[in-house]
Amino acid sequence: MPLSDLREKIENQSAKLAVIGLGYVGLPVAALFAKKGFQVVGVDIKQDRVDLINSGISPIEGKEPGLAELISEVVESGAFHATTDYTELSDADVVLIDVETPVNADHIPEYQALRSAVKSLSSVLKKGALVVVESTVMPGTIRDVILPIIEEETGMVCNKDFYLGNCPERVMPGKLLHNLRKMSRVAGGGTQETAALMRNLYSIIVEADVDMADWITAEIVKTAENTYRDVQIAFANEMALICEALGADVWRVRELVRKSPGREMLLPGAGVGGHCIPKDPWLLASSVREMNVPVRLIPAAREINTSMPKHVFNLLVNRLKDFDEKKILILGYAYLNDSDDTRNSPSEELVKLIKNTGAKIVIHDPFIKKYSGNVIEKAKNCDAAVLMTAHSEYETIDLKQLKRVMQMPFILDGRNILDRKLVIDAGFELVRLGDTSRGEE
Ligand SMILES: NC(=O)c1ccc[n+]([C@@H]2O[C@H](COP(=O)([O-])OP(=O)(O)OC[C@H]3O[C@@H](n4cnc5c(N)ncnc54)[C@H](O)[C@@H]3O)[C@@H](O)[C@H]2O)c1
Repeated sequence: MPLSDLREKIENQSAKLAVIGLGYVGLPVAALFAKKGFQVVGVDIKQDRVDLINSGISPIEGKEPGLAELISEVVESGAFHATTDYTELSDADVVLIDVETPVNADHIPEYQALRSAVKSLSSVLKKGALVVVESTVMPGTIRDVILPIIEEETGMVCNKDFYLGNCPERVMPGKLLHNLRKMSRVAGGGTQETAALMRNLYSIIVEADVDMADWITAEIVKTAENTYRDVQIAFANEMALICEALGADVWRVRELVRKSPGREMLLPGAGVGGHCIPKDPWLLASSVREMNVPVRLIPAAREINTSMPKHVFNLLVNRLKDFDEKKILILGYAYLNDSDDTRNSPSEELVKLIKNTGAKIVIHDPFIKKYSGNVIEKAKNCDAAVLMTAHSEYETIDLKQLKRVMQMPFILDGRNILDRKLVIDAGFELVRLGDTSRGEE
């Protein structure tokens, strides 16, 4: 099928769409295109996920405005269904790939899911189809990994028999649909024509710019965005450590630094988690690992951010001295506020460290079934409460009740969401990450 025919099919929404990988990214994308009138099939290797989706239920929990309703609507209308069977993709005109792209222990991309998805797709790929990788990848991956697999497995030639692009996602849990609709996108195409076709496609769901680029630019932009964030958070975390050592309050310092024109400081905190920020900087750094580029800032930032749960543990050790017979309450296990996403959660790391001491641990998280429940009940007889995730429920926690049930009235706030005065007035001893000031403004 020539590109012009595909363009027409996209414009009149008669193109059949497929989405590979129905996770945090792929599922909302599939549902949005289905809502816009496309016939969409989603494929995932997890049968239970597929079954849940086909019964109209979103497998993504946490506060995700509009998503559950949208999934239920597009499944019920018949515009979207899920499957584990790749043969259903044999008549797809457009295929979006949204599988996970982690890094291994040596920080090298671990492309098992991506390679497997592309191979399975290649066995059924229709001539003339457009394949778009939405997953975040190491710069160079489209040219050096994806393109060779498709060409070798199908015998087809890119830009003649099929078209290939990458359009990285900018979503984050809690804002999946919002970001998909409102945030601009970079459409990386193998040719200008492919990029233009992708712009037509994404403009259907995106209410912002869809900028055209080549593969490598789109890959670098995405990994650079998340690396920028990681480096900025690392700066804030390093400032927290400096302020603690100097008897200052990083939160007040931050407030005043930001009054200086052009100066910004992100929030320090108990750690950086999620699927993306802990690995996207490594994807970027990996792209030049065999070249003579001295990449220094990216690993340093990663090291600072990775060390923050250990730092929280050290703050706990300083206060408790020993963990004999101690019971510690962890408030929040997801990596992000009001989300159920536990991937690379800083709490997981902290729990490991506390477990090694032999102390008892009680975990509360309102968005994770096995840890949900009444927080006051969970706090009974605890010697410390460590706030690791800024879930909104914790901002309004009943401090008086909490004090009544805890063995020792001690709170370690790793996210600075509790009002210091209220906590102290309720009779607690409070340690805030980044703050060893005596509390004067
Ligand atoms: N989560 C985010 O906020 C976010 C934001 C921007 C970009 N991204 C990027 O998007 C990509 C996907 O992330 P995610 O958070 O949606 O991951 P996820 O783990 O939630 O979803 C991936 C899905 O792909 C499925 N899968 C794996 N191998 C498969 C295969 N061979 N065939 C079919 N399905 C397969 C998995 O079962 C899973 O359901 C990653 O590259 C990530 O870096 C994620």
